[in-house]
Amino acid sequence: MNILFAASEAVPYSASGGLAEVVGSLPKAISKKGHNCAVVIPLYRSIKPEHRKYMYFVTNITVDVSWRKQYCGIYSLENNGVTYFFIDNEYYFDRDGLYGFYDDCERFVFFDRAVIEMLKHIDFKPDIISCNDWQTALIPVYLQIYYKYQQGYNKIKTAFTIHNIAYQGKYGREVLNELMGIPEHNAGILEYDGYINMLKGALETTDRIITVSPSYAKEILDPWYAYGLDRILVTKQHKLKGILNGIDTDDYNPEKDPSIAWHFSKDNLSGKAKCKSEMLTALGLVVDDEPVIGIVSRLVKHKGFDLIRCVFEEIIKSGFKFAVLGSGEKIYEEFFIEMARRYPDRVSVTTGYVPELARIIYAGSDMILMPSQNEPCGLAQMIAMRYGTPPIVRETGGLRDSVRDNGGTDGNGFTFKTYNSDDMLDAVRRAKRDYDDKQRWNELVLRAMNCDYSWTIPAENYIEVFEELINE
Ligand code: GLC
Repeated sequence: MNILFAASEAVPYSASGGLAEVVGSLPKAISKKGHNCAVVIPLYRSIKPEHRKYMYFVTNITVDVSWRKQYCGIYSLENNGVTYFFIDNEYYFDRDGLYGFYDDCERFVFFDRAVIEMLKHIDFKPDIISCNDWQTALIPVYLQIYYKYQQGYNKIKTAFTIHNIAYQGKYGREVLNELMGIPEHNAGILEYDGYINMLKGALETTDRIITVSPSYAKEILDPWYAYGLDRILVTKQHKLKGILNGIDTDDYNPEKDPSIAWHFSKDNLSGKAKCKSEMLTALGLVVDDEPVIGIVSRLVKHKGFDLIRCVFEEIIKSGFKFAVLGSGEKIYEEFFIEMARRYPDRVSVTTGYVPELARIIYAGSDMILMPSQNEPCGLAQMIAMRYGTPPIVRETGGLRDSVRDNGGTDGNGFTFKTYNSDDMLDAVRRAKRDYDDKQRWNELVLRAMNCDYSWTIPAENYIEVFEELINE
């Protein structure tokens, strides 16, 4: 099979979160199983010269954005058996940052149209286009409206993966004609609750909807989790499937990771203790045996930071330290900055997206805390387990599908059910109790490290879906 992954970000070229990790590793895993994979992303300003030097210019074309005719350069390179394509337009992508601009809708209308038009000019002919999140949601829409009967396009099937349903690409009605160039008689595909909703357009037109964990696939049928889209999703259940993400276990490997000072494995954990002291020193915290909770996350509401705020000082006073890395909403950034000021020996916060520090925290912490209100999959808990760091999580989405509570003797972390700070506090206290029992803790750490969260199985699940589509 030939599979083209379209996305707005991919490791190692551009990343703001878990989406980039998945797009950076799933195609590699599928290509190892004998399929041809390609990835297409925008050529952002932030893509480093060390990557640009491997790119070659394929061609340039003109892409319609409603009445506008826009330049589109196509660049390409090979990496790990996967072909990458980069869509170039300086006006749209030569900016600081990936999203959050007033014209994001126009930028991704351009990108989606460019991805489809590009296919006439490259020698990669996809059987499947795997689209990811709202930024690529118009690809199946355009294919249906404009390309279905065109030579070269009529056999292409699409799968659309929802990484987080909170982000939908909602705009006023005027974008339909003015930016998307979609005629009024097709408005129904994209209209929802009085908006133009790009994600909804994808749900209507794609051949399969995938989401990043089996639990989340059920949760998004429920208004509490669906950010308004439950009503449309219940009518699409026949084509909805949850596949738990994997992580790149070659890259996230405590035996080799160049970002950490000491290496370790299941057979010899002494390096982990050294990573802990090294991290505490580097972050300016006191070095001792108290448990350290790591947090590596976007600092946004749905990650559960309100629960953490409620009981943070209680946790600190019961003998914990915190190593926090992330950026996001001001209210949470300021909260952690204030806590670090109040407890300089015990709390460290770094605001930003710093991949090397993330790895230092995964390896150097004793536990990782993820009390998410909703979590489509979550990768931090899987990476943390790979580094011998049991997660404390709320039972939702992919957290529920990957973490088992250590109440008995077969857990790999700690879990709580209700979105409530006392329940979270109770899980944190149970973690402390187990941490203080060195033998029990050691067994837990080994169980966490023994879990297989590689792409081996999930890649098979994706291949199955793609093959089903081709045979339909
Ligand atoms: C989004 C989700 C996260 C998921 C990631 C990759 O960032 O919020 O839960 O792990 O996408 O699919």
